[in-house]
Amino acid sequence: MNAISSPRGLADVCERSPSYVRAIAPYQPGKPISELARELGLKEESIVKLASNENPLGASPKALEAMYAALEEVSRYPDGNGFELRMALSEKYEVPAERIVLGNGSNDVLEMAAHAFLAPGATAVYSRHAFAVYPLATQATGATGIEVPARDFGHDLDAMARAIRKDTRVVFVANPNNPTGTWQAPDAVHAFLRKIPADVLLVLDEAYNEYLDSKLASASLKWLQEFPNLVVSRTFSKAYGLAGLRVGFAFAHPQVADLMNRVRQPFNVSNIAQSAAVAALADQDFVLRSRAHNEQEMRTVTAGLKRLGLTWIPSFANFVSFKVPKAAEVYQCLLGQGVIVRPISGYGMPEYLRVTVGTGTENSRFLAALEAALAKLR
Ligand SMILES: Cc1ncc(COP(=O)(O)O)c(C=O)c1O
Repeated sequence: MNAISSPRGLADVCERSPSYVRAIAPYQPGKPISELARELGLKEESIVKLASNENPLGASPKALEAMYAALEEVSRYPDGNGFELRMALSEKYEVPAERIVLGNGSNDVLEMAAHAFLAPGATAVYSRHAFAVYPLATQATGATGIEVPARDFGHDLDAMARAIRKDTRVVFVANPNNPTGTWQAPDAVHAFLRKIPADVLLVLDEAYNEYLDSKLASASLKWLQEFPNLVVSRTFSKAYGLAGLRVGFAFAHPQVADLMNRVRQPFNVSNIAQSAAVAALADQDFVLRSRAHNEQEMRTVTAGLKRLGLTWIPSFANFVSFKVPKAAEVYQCLLGQGVIVRPISGYGMPEYLRVTVGTGTENSRFLAALEAALAKLR
C-alpha cells in the first residue's frame, strides 16, 4: 500500500479529532535555506535568509563551547526541572526560581499558558496582526479567540480591555509585537494590568525585549509581586542567538508556574540547550553587541527602504515590515534572487513584507535584490 492511498477507516479516524483541531491552519514558518537551495539548484551559502528574526551574529562563542561540552552527556535525559538554568535566570533577573518555567522555545511556554488556563467554552483575547501562535494555541485547547482591531498596527490596549468577557481566561500581548514591530510603553502595559479583571491571565510576550534600548526596557518583572495574573515570556531565540536550540522561559506567580508545569512535557528542554542557555546568559557582552548591531543595521535597512520610496512600520525589534506594491510578486522575485523574506498576508497584511535585520552584507544583498524586483515589476 502506498502512502497516497486512503486506507479504509482513515476518514473516520480523522473525524474523531475534535473539530477545533481539524480547523487549525498550521503555522507557516519562514522558508528554510535548504528548501530554496533545492528548488533553485543554488548553493546554500549563496542564500540570504531574513525571514525568521534570527540573530545575524550567530550565537555566543561561550554558548557554543558549552554545547560541545554538553554533547558528552547526550545519552542521559536532561534535568527535567532545569535546576541550573532556572538558578542562573533567577540570579540574572532577580526573580525566585519557583517563579520560572522553562520552555522548548518561548512558543512552548505560550502553549503551556494556553493549555493550563483555556478549555472549550473559554475565550482568549489578542490583537489583530499579533503573533500567530496566540490564535493557534487558543484553538488547540478548544477555546475561542477574540481578535481585537489594532490601532496603527499596534495593540489597542483600551479596546482589548473592553473586549474581555466573563468567559475570558487569557489575554495575549506581544511587546514588541511580531510582525508589526510595534511597542507599548511600560506605563501603558501597567495601566492595562490594573484595568483587567484579576482572574484573567495576562501573557506578556517579550521575545524581543533584549533589542529594546535600555531607556525603553520593560519593567514587567517588577510587577510580578503585585499581579499574580501576570506571565512574562522571554526567549533565547532572538538576541541570545539560540533559535535552533529551542529554549524559552516564563516568569509567573509560583502557583501559576506550577499549573504551567503540570502541562509541560517532562524533558522539554534538552541538556545541550540548558547548558548553552546558562553560558549565553553569562555572556551579556554578546547580547549588547547584538543590540548595537541591530540598531545600526536597522538604520541601514530603513534608509535603503526610504531610498526605494517605500514606507515601513517603525520597529522596536530585529525586523521591519514594509509596504510594497505587489508584495506577493516581490517576495517571489526576491526568492528567485536567493533572498528569503517573510510574506505576512496571513497576518492580515497582504501589502507588506517583513524582513529581518541581517549582517551588513545580507542587508545590502536584500536591498539590491529589492531594487531589482521593484524595477522588474514596475
Ligand atoms: C512575538 C514572538 N513571541 C514568541 C516567539 C517564539 O519564539 P521561540 O519559540 O523561538 O522562543 C516569536 C518567534 O518568532 C515571536 O516573534
